[in-house]
Amino acid sequence: MSSSLRLSRDFFRPVLLWAFFAAACSKAPEESAPTTDLAAAAALHTGETIFQTRCFVCHGRGGKGDGPASTNLGARVRDLTNSAWQNSTSDETIRNVIRNGATAIGGTAAMAPNPDLSDAQIQSLTLYIRSLRKD
Ligand code: HEC
Repeated sequence: MSSSLRLSRDFFRPVLLWAFFAAACSKAPEESAPTTDLAAAAALHTGETIFQTRCFVCHGRGGKGDGPASTNLGARVRDLTNSAWQNSTSDETIRNVIRNGATAIGGTAAMAPNPDLSDAQIQSLTLYIRSLRKD
């Protein structure tokens, strides 16, 4: 009994897998995201990659300001998930801080400028920072 059960399971697993992918693919044409959504998703991913490469050291993996280099900076690292802060700032200000450092908005020199980042990269980071908002 058990061997016939195993046989049928072994037979059906690939069939079920195929059915799953066939269903997923056949939905693609009518449910595919508009190009702008795909572009936004790609930008968000770029922003995440940059953030997790050069910003997390201070801002932390989740953006809460608790990265490994966040202590002894002489300044508190902004909690980017905070909804009150998210409400109080504009995308323009976020882009300004990233490009020119926090002194550009009257803050500390601990948050250095990033002159090598392109406008598109800075926009991607801004999107990612907006996605970190909690509640
Ligand atoms: C050396 C540590 C450090 C690194 C690296 C760093 N930051 Fe910051 N960041 C800070 C500190 C400190 C503040 C708080 C500045 C203040 O309030 O004066 C801050 C503040 C900010 C703010 C909020 C500014 C505001 O409105 O108060 C944003 C947005 C930000 N950082 C984005 C980034 C991004 C994006 C990167 C990576 C490209 C980055 N930071 C890298 C330390 C850092």
